[in-house]
Amino acid sequence: MKIAFFDSGIGGLSVLHHAMKILPQEEFIFYADEDNVPYGTKTPEEVLACVDAAFRFLISQQVGAIVVACNTATSVAVKIMREKYSLPIIGMEPALKLALDTFPNRKVLVTATAITITGEKIRRLIKNLHAENLAELKALPELVEFAERQEFNSAAVEKYLRGEMANYDWEKFSSLVLGCTHFNYFKDTLRKILPPHVKILDGNAGTINELIRRINLTKNQSQGSIEFFYSGRRVIDSAEIMRLEKFLRRLDDMEAIK
Ligand code: DGL
Repeated sequence: MKIAFFDSGIGGLSVLHHAMKILPQEEFIFYADEDNVPYGTKTPEEVLACVDAAFRFLISQQVGAIVVACNTATSVAVKIMREKYSLPIIGMEPALKLALDTFPNRKVLVTATAITITGEKIRRLIKNLHAENLAELKALPELVEFAERQEFNSAAVEKYLRGEMANYDWEKFSSLVLGCTHFNYFKDTLRKILPPHVKILDGNAGTINELIRRINLTKNQSQGSIEFFYSGRRVIDSAEIMRLEKFLRRLDDMEAIK
C-alpha cells in the first residue's frame, strides 16, 4: 500500500523523514504543493481548493492513506476531506497536549502559521485541554519562506527569530511547540536563542504513531521506496532531487535537537 504525505511545500518532509526511520519498508509518495506554497497567508477557501486538488491527484495514484503533513491544511480541510473520502486520513496537531502532559501547569508557546493560530481547530484544542491560561500563540510566517529557499541558519533567520522571541517571560514557559511542519528546519537557531529549560516539541512522532494505529502495515517487503511530486508533477529532474535530498540532510541534523 502506498502512503501519501502531503504538504503545501517541503515542511511535510519533516514528517516523512520521521516515517522513513520508523517504517523503512513502506512505499511512500510525497506531494509538495510547490505551485501554491505558502498556504498560511491564504484564505481558508483558497487553501481548501488547493487541498481538494491535491487529494484528487493522490486518490488517482491509488494511495491507501494520506498523511496531511501540514498543520494549516489539517486545520482548514481535514474534516471536509474525511467527509468526502473513506481512506484513512491522518492530520497534524500542534503538540500542545504533549507539552502539557510533560510539563503540567507550565506555559507553552505554540508557533504556527497565521491561518492555524486564528482557526477554530486550535481554539477547540486549547479549550479541550483547559489550557486557556497556559497556551500562547505566535505566527512565524517568514520561516516558511526561509525554509522554501533553503535559508536555514543565516544571519537573517537569527535576526528574525530573535525579534519574534524577544518579548516573552521565558521563566514561565516549559516549551515551544512547532505547530507548522516547515519550522523543523530551524531548531538549531531556536535552540541558540531560547533558554536551555525551554524544550522544542513537534507533532511528528504523534502523527506517525497515529498512522501506524490506522493502517495495516506491509509485511515482508524488503525495500522501501519514495516518489516525489510537486503539485501533481513527478519530480525527476536531478537538480530537484538534490534539492529534496538537501532538505532531508538538514532534517538529519535537526533530529536530535530538543
Ligand atoms: N507546512 C505547513 C504547516 O504545517 C504550512 C506552511 C505554509 O504553507 O504556510 O502549517
